[in-house]
Amino acid sequence: MSENNPFPNENNTGHFWDDTLRELSNDPPGWWRIGFHASWLWCIVYFFLYPSLPTLDLEGYTKGSMGWTSVSEYKEDLAKIDQVRQKWEDRINDPETTPAMILADNELRNYTVRSAKVLFGDYCSACHGSGGAGNSARSATESGYPVLADDDWLYGGTIEQIQMTITNGRKGIMPNYGTRLSEAEITDLAKHVVALSEGSEHAAGKELFMGPTKGGCFACHGMDAKGMDALGSANLTDAVWRFDVAGGDDHRQASALHTIAHGVNSELIDKASRNAVMPAFGPLGTRDLGAGTIKKLAVYVHQLGGGQ
Ligand code: HEC
Ligand code: HEC
Repeated sequence: MSENNPFPNENNTGHFWDDTLRELSNDPPGWWRIGFHASWLWCIVYFFLYPSLPTLDLEGYTKGSMGWTSVSEYKEDLAKIDQVRQKWEDRINDPETTPAMILADNELRNYTVRSAKVLFGDYCSACHGSGGAGNSARSATESGYPVLADDDWLYGGTIEQIQMTITNGRKGIMPNYGTRLSEAEITDLAKHVVALSEGSEHAAGKELFMGPTKGGCFACHGMDAKGMDALGSANLTDAVWRFDVAGGDDHRQASALHTIAHGVNSELIDKASRNAVMPAFGPLGTRDLGAGTIKKLAVYVHQLGGGQ
């Protein structure tokens, strides 16, 4: 190859191919050399400043002169965020602060709603659905879980009532009428209840509903059948059904019939009773979330759409 070098004046290595391709030994360009030296210099500087090499003991490593670690940086950042949060948390946790006061203060309310969203996801949405959209029942004795984002309340939608619901839980009780009334009477009552929800009534059923000895339903559901907050007795005149689990064309009537015959939360005396228990999250509950967290959740539920 190198016998007939056609470029004798160039700094070549004597390697030629096909008389046109040749390997030279010129210095690389200046910009490239600066880059190269800067790189290894940086490696050395980095090596002294930052943690870099593992040492012989299993968890050891060279610490670097700055003492930096990604974990300590993360912790510092967290501490900064906590500092910002602390001022809001202190106000919420102050026993003097009521949920109504939180609602009235725009900034505090915004902070509360944002931080409660996660709490609701952790503690509530398994039953009430994300965003309080509710969950329907999967069997006749299961109750399903009420929508919290509408303005239809069993136990009342004021901020104080919602706070009370979350703190102490709720367990509305309705007796089972299957042992006291005839099948025909229960059917009349079911027809009446369905009629009520459609804006009319059923004469024989109404008589039982208002009759003090037989049905006596008004005692809990009210003379106007609109329910009472204190008892959690459902409003029977609206089209929102708490228990609507039977299939078929007359599912409304069949569901009402089941509720009337077997009651609600009466499983001690009737195995087919509807089951509808809202667990307590205050000191009486199995999991006490603490007053501050409950205030946050009450504010969150209140602003979902139906707060009064
Ligand atoms: C184990 C399931 C379950 C969990 C968890 C649960 N709930 Fe409930 N909740 C219910 C049931 C069932 C009812 C309806 C009780 C009834 O029908 O009498 C209810 C009712 C309520 C009501 C009253 C609704 C009304 O119409 O008056 C509110 C408010 C409420 N829950 C908020 C919450 C919040 C906030 C959480 C989370 C801290 C939560 N719930 C967690 C099952 C649950
Ligand atoms: C001791 C109080 C009490 C009495 C008496 C009572 N109820 Fe109820 N009723 C309730 C409660 C509490 C609920 C359940 C609300 C809940 O937990 O969701 C309920 C629920 C219902 C429901 C279900 C509504 C729905 O939306 O699915 C129907 C229907 C009903 N009652 C009809 C009657 C009829 C008819 C009578 C009379 C034969 C009657 N109730 C008597 C307390 C009572």
